[in-house]
Amino acid sequence: DPNFSSAPKLELEELLQTLDQKINWDGRKLVKYNGFWFPMPFFPPIISTQNHFKAKESDILLASVPKSGTTWLKALMFCIANRNIYTIDQNPLLTSNPHILVPFLELGLYFHQENPDLQHLSDPRFFSSHIPFNILPNSIRDSECKIIFICRSPLDQFISSYHFLLDNKFEKDAVPLELDEAFDIIRESVVYKYEDLKEDIAFHIEKILEFMGYPFSEEELKQGLVDQIKKLCSLENLKNLEVNKCGYVQGIMKNSSFFRKGEVGDWTNYLTPAMAERVKKAVWPCSAIENNIR
Ligand code: A3P
Repeated sequence: DPNFSSAPKLELEELLQTLDQKINWDGRKLVKYNGFWFPMPFFPPIISTQNHFKAKESDILLASVPKSGTTWLKALMFCIANRNIYTIDQNPLLTSNPHILVPFLELGLYFHQENPDLQHLSDPRFFSSHIPFNILPNSIRDSECKIIFICRSPLDQFISSYHFLLDNKFEKDAVPLELDEAFDIIRESVVYKYEDLKEDIAFHIEKILEFMGYPFSEEELKQGLVDQIKKLCSLENLKNLEVNKCGYVQGIMKNSSFFRKGEVGDWTNYLTPAMAERVKKAVWPCSAIENNIR
C-alpha cells in the first residue's frame, strides 16, 4: 500500500519472516501473531493500530469475535448515543452500513493508512476491533476507555464465518474446503454472548446504555424508545435496507454478507452432533461454553 512508509514496511517484513504462516480453508494466507491467526492483509493494519492509535478516556471500543454480532451492536451503539441528534425515521442507519458509522480500527481506519489523522472525530469517539485483548494498543489497555465485548457460541460463529467467507471469496482462485474439513479451523476460536442479546434485547439495550453512560430518561422509557431502537437495529430491518443490499465495506466485504440469518443454534443445520462433541471435548473446557453448545 503506497500509504505505508518504507521504514515501517521493512520492519514489518522482518517481523513477518519470524512468524508462522499457513493457508486457511478458504485459500487465504494466515499469519500467527502472539498466539492468534490473522488473515495476512489485516496484519500490517494491526501493527499500525498498535503503533499509532492513542485512546482517549472518553472512547468506547466495541471488541468482538468476527461473526458474533458486531454489526448489530454497532447499530445499537450508534443509535443509543445519537438518539438526541437523529429521530428514528431520519437515522443515518437507514442510509449507511453500521460499519461506516462505527469504524473498525484495523479493518477500517488503519487498513488503508498507516497513521490516519483522527483529529476530526468528535468526542466521544466510537471504534470497533477484532484484535484480541493482549494485542490491543497499550493506550487502550492502559486507559479508562470503555470496552464492550461480544462473542457467540463457537459453533454458530463458525457457520456464520463459513457463509461469510464463501460469500466474499477473498481468494478468487482458491477452491475452498468442504464444510467438514473447514470445521477444524474453529479450534482457534473463543466464547459467547450474542445469545443473550437474542434472548432479551430490550434488557440488554438498557444495560449497554448504562455502561456507555447514556441511560434512558423516564420520559424516553415512556415513549417506548427501547422498542423503537430494537426495531431499527433488528436484522430484518437492516437487512432489507437498500444500503445494505448492495455495496462493500472497505471495498472487499459485501454489505449484504453481514446480514444473514441471525439464529441461535443454526449450526445444527450444518454440523453433526459428533462434530459438536469434538469441540466440547477438545477445544473449550469452560463449562459455560459446553452448556451453550448443548
Ligand atoms: P448469521 O451468519 O448466523 O446469520 P458480525 O456482525 O460480527 O460480522 O456477525 C454477523 C452475524 O450477525 C450474522 O449471523 C448476521 O446475520 C448477524 N446479524 C447481523 N445484523 C444483525 C442484527 N441486526 N440482529 C441480529 N443478528 C444480526
